[in-house]
Amino acid sequence: MTNPFREDLVSRSRPEPCTVVIFGATGDLTHRKLVPAIYNLAIDGELPPGVKILGFARREKSDAEFRKGLEELNRKVSRSGHDEAIWSTFQESIHYHQSEFTDADGYQRLAERLDAIDRERGGKGNRLFYIASAPEFFDDILTQLKTAGLNKAKDGCWARVIVEKPFGTDLKTAQHLNQVVNRTFQEKDTYRIDHYLGKETAQNLMVLRFANAIFEPLWNSRYIDQVQITCSENLGMEGGRGGYYDKSGALRDMVQNHLLQLLSLVAMEPPTDLSADGVRDEKVKVIRSLRQWDTPEKVAANVIRAQYAAGHVDGKPVPGYREEDRVDPESMTESYVALRLMIDTWRWSGVPFYIRMGKQLPKKATEISVHFKAPPGVLFNALSGGVPGGNVLVIRIQPDEGISLRMVSKIPGTSLRLEPVKMDFHYATSFGKSSPEAYERLLLDAMAGDATLFARRDEVEEAWRFIDHIEHAWHQSNNPPPMASYVAGTWGPKEADELVQADGHVWRRL
Ligand code: BG6
Repeated sequence: MTNPFREDLVSRSRPEPCTVVIFGATGDLTHRKLVPAIYNLAIDGELPPGVKILGFARREKSDAEFRKGLEELNRKVSRSGHDEAIWSTFQESIHYHQSEFTDADGYQRLAERLDAIDRERGGKGNRLFYIASAPEFFDDILTQLKTAGLNKAKDGCWARVIVEKPFGTDLKTAQHLNQVVNRTFQEKDTYRIDHYLGKETAQNLMVLRFANAIFEPLWNSRYIDQVQITCSENLGMEGGRGGYYDKSGALRDMVQNHLLQLLSLVAMEPPTDLSADGVRDEKVKVIRSLRQWDTPEKVAANVIRAQYAAGHVDGKPVPGYREEDRVDPESMTESYVALRLMIDTWRWSGVPFYIRMGKQLPKKATEISVHFKAPPGVLFNALSGGVPGGNVLVIRIQPDEGISLRMVSKIPGTSLRLEPVKMDFHYATSFGKSSPEAYERLLLDAMAGDATLFARRDEVEEAWRFIDHIEHAWHQSNNPPPMASYVAGTWGPKEADELVQADGHVWRRL
């Protein structure tokens, strides 16, 4: 028999019509991700009727020019292609508003413009503010929204804010930004986006763990030997990215947010329900339980940083990190990081979680592998070759999203010889359709008022608390751990191999 209370929690609330106001509308994110995401939702019939987009940016542009630029990109990147007829109707709900981010008058005009759009195109006044500008404007935008009264919704409507990453550059700046956000919007209306949480397989992690009976009983230090999270990218600092990246580095750019979020989904306790706070209460406990690497010695023993030297990726020559455009030739920013993490909870006592992330590695892939302990060897260890490896559950986040389980099997034949085999599930073949882009799901959730897949204030701050010690050891201590090096197009520095070898492990080959 179904439980009506549970059902209520599982079924999603409905997305509501609104105007999405995008700050930083002339940027790459808007063109490559946000507008194509809304367009694809429209194609799939998921978008509530009456959703409008208002781009806010500093450059002078007409509505028509803004639409044209978006259309050009949509043609190139849209997941389900570009349909002239659908675009032609869709683009009518796209508008552009020119203003400096700091100009109070620009926000007064924004308020009037929003009302006018509602009058002309129908709409009751729901507003979804998406802050996708350069981070130095986050404060100004929030403050100006408040001054213009745009943070308060009209009766019966809502005003919500989505804040893009980077959410601060350390604990102090994140706390400050949280104060500014919470002075302007209530926490329940604040959506700190982490697009990894919108990826289909990341969402499936909870289902895999808690909707199947076979995994959860084994999901602890008694049966699991180690867990690895790998995020490898075969790109460097293309498109002028070096300017931002050299101030950030792999640890702040990917680990503080995306990879610690994945870790918390893998390691959390079952939530009491699927409400946003139910899930986030459990996730934050994982981050809070991370053993702190709070001295340069602990950082040196548990964290490896590295930069790529010139090499070849996908058969093409690429420069070294320090030779990249807009990167300081003496930069001490890491393009690769590998960490050994320990989660000090009853469940995970003694189980190392390894994370590695790097630019200019051989391919683009993100996966989580859960390595189970070997069974007692009494029966098969005497065979020549012994038992080949243990059980590994691999959750492929991207590409080729899916899950595989490695088991040991007998090779058919008259003699007893063992070999690992794989049970493999691919999303694409099992469900016969491509997964929506992360931004599609997350935008829809924000329109529906569901913050489950967004980071809460305490999660972001706890993650920074952990990261800050490492950054401090690297950049402010008297005996900073060294910067290692790897050739572009290889799997990272030998020091990262040694990190896991010290525990008797090796990195999984992707
Ligand atoms: C972004 C980082 O948040 O995520 C980039 O700033 C990174 O450096 C990107 O390349 C990776 O996202 P995805 O979805 O392509 O894995």
